[in-house]
Amino acid sequence: MKAAVITSFGEPSVLQVAEAPRPVPGPGQALARVRAAGVNPAEIQARAGAFRLHAPAIIGFEFAGVVEQVGPGVDESLVGERIAGWPDSASQGSYAEYTVSSNFTTIPDGVSFEEAAATVIGADNAARALGLLNIRPGDTLVVTGASGALGSAAVQFARRRGVTVIGVAGTSNADFVQSLGAIPVAHGPGLVDRIRAAAPGGVDAALDTAGKGPLPALVEVLGGPERIVTLADRDAARYGVAFSAGHSGNRDSQPVREALDLIAAGAWTVRIGRSFPLAEAADAHRLVATGHTHGKVIILP
Ligand SMILES: NC(=O)c1ccc[n+]([C@@H]2O[C@H](COP(=O)([O-])OP(=O)(O)OC[C@H]3O[C@@H](n4cnc5c(N)ncnc54)[C@H](OP(=O)(O)O)[C@@H]3O)[C@@H](O)[C@H]2O)c1
Repeated sequence: MKAAVITSFGEPSVLQVAEAPRPVPGPGQALARVRAAGVNPAEIQARAGAFRLHAPAIIGFEFAGVVEQVGPGVDESLVGERIAGWPDSASQGSYAEYTVSSNFTTIPDGVSFEEAAATVIGADNAARALGLLNIRPGDTLVVTGASGALGSAAVQFARRRGVTVIGVAGTSNADFVQSLGAIPVAHGPGLVDRIRAAAPGGVDAALDTAGKGPLPALVEVLGGPERIVTLADRDAARYGVAFSAGHSGNRDSQPVREALDLIAAGAWTVRIGRSFPLAEAADAHRLVATGHTHGKVIILP
């Protein structure tokens, strides 16, 4: 099969299309013909060598595709189904014509492969973090990175649970954040004052999906770190804030399925920025590395 195979970790140009062995589904796994792979900031780090994967490696941590074959213990009737989920291995990922997965959901009619791939990691991480914050109807929640994949999912889940959301994002994304049902607030210096002006009744909790420095402002607004969770700032402990990491043990396809059903019903927005053919995976990485994609970046293997 064709895949973006990394033989040494480093700059985006290490993503080179090459022939690789097609994976074989083991017990509990489905082999999917990948039709779309979401591109994530973590994959930028993996490509650069931060995850200490062994070469040759194929990265890509979320996918949408069609089941081609199933391993022992998996229902044969899944063959031919459209599915979206997580590849089982960090080095046998979705920047490839085929990947294997045991954690996925079927894709409802009316949802494209690009939309499905763009939803997996965002919906899962947003839902887990909101669960940790234990938000309730009537609460006011700040979401930083509200224009991004994780943030836009968090805004929409929170709004559906009756929560008022202050959505922090770039000014060029204010209309988009508002369209999700949040009150848009610009990131950057002066954030504390802008949040207070947008939430005169106070703020109950905050979810940071941006990283890049908003935690001190959020601690100041909340009066302490207890009701803040970050998905993006690994220095969280410095501020007493909880960092929540997604991993193979806590990935949950249920909120992904909820979001996909809502897309099918026209009640959920997943914004696609640009799609790239597999041969241009390096350009996809360069765009994601800017931090301002204006929608999910997708690779089409
Ligand atoms: N904890 C986990 O398990 C986990 C899982 C997945 C992802 N993540 C992390 O979550 C973060 C978001 O991922 P994503 O896929 O949602 O990224 P994304 O779609 O690229 O969104 C990035 C967001 O960050 C905002 N942003 C960029 N630069 C900023 C700055 N200097 N100050 C404030 N906001 C800024 C962007 O706002 P504008 O473009 O509007 O300016 C956008 O809303 C990444 O750090 C990623 O590594 C963590």
